[in-house]
Amino acid sequence: MTAATLPALSVSGLRAGYGHGADIVRGIDFDLPPESIVAVIGPNGSGKSSFVKTLAGLLDVRAGSVSVTGQDVTHETPARRVAAGLAYVPQEANVFPSLSIRENLKLATEFLRGRAGVGAERQEHVLSLFPDLALRMRTRAGDLSGGQRQMLAFASALLANPEVLLLDEPSAGLSPKFVEQTMEAIARVRAAGVTVLLVEQNVAAALKIADEVAVLVAGHLTLRTEAKLVDHTALGELFFAKVA
Ligand SMILES: Nc1ncnc2c1ncn2[C@@H]1O[C@H](COP(=O)(O)OP(=O)(O)OP(=O)(O)O)[C@@H](O)[C@H]1O
Ligand SMILES: [Mg+2]
Repeated sequence: MTAATLPALSVSGLRAGYGHGADIVRGIDFDLPPESIVAVIGPNGSGKSSFVKTLAGLLDVRAGSVSVTGQDVTHETPARRVAAGLAYVPQEANVFPSLSIRENLKLATEFLRGRAGVGAERQEHVLSLFPDLALRMRTRAGDLSGGQRQMLAFASALLANPEVLLLDEPSAGLSPKFVEQTMEAIARVRAAGVTVLLVEQNVAAALKIADEVAVLVAGHLTLRTEAKLVDHTALGELFFAKVA
């Protein structure tokens, strides 16, 4: 396989859990084609956040493997995964509210020092994707609207020049107008060449921009299909189906 056809992210037989507890991620096989958006949806508590936390290196892998553009990162630290091209935006607390936009971006750049393609030029490119942020660099993150705060979280992650961006419910708590803006921003990120794994509760919003959708129920992937083929009724049944 050539580099161009390698999946941006490849996950095989992944199992993970918290402390001495039972597995929450229970054997996931998952590929992200380059420059695609794949939405991961599923009921509350099905393990979506745990899955992306495992990919980001915040939860120990108990079995299986994770690679980014062919590079095995299964046992790497979160920082080494970022260096390998895997950036993560958590569901909550994803910006520093008391710092300005400029300071948030500066901090992210400092953290990333040493990664290829990080620096002033990269920041300029990232800000071109989020013109709203460029207009108010001195505004404290805590004073931004929910939608703008999400843009700042995306921008901070994108400063790493990642191959893959992991987004955990970016639309949570946003009003419909901001949900739309956030989804448009994610589509721009993909158009700029980044592959996106998008965890979403807002299935309708996610389906508008996703190429494919994967359903996660009780730590298993129960369905993977093209977004345009998804039938909402069938999804409802899958969400509540019992999984062995
Ligand atoms: N820090 C933790 N320690 C122990 N168990 C946890 C922890 N975080 C989550 N869990 C458990 O893992 C399971 C999956 O939770 P997770 O947050 O991954 O689900 P989710 O699909 O992201 O849910 P939501 O839709 O509410 O965001 C739940 O049973 C939850 O109680
Ligand atoms: Mg979650």
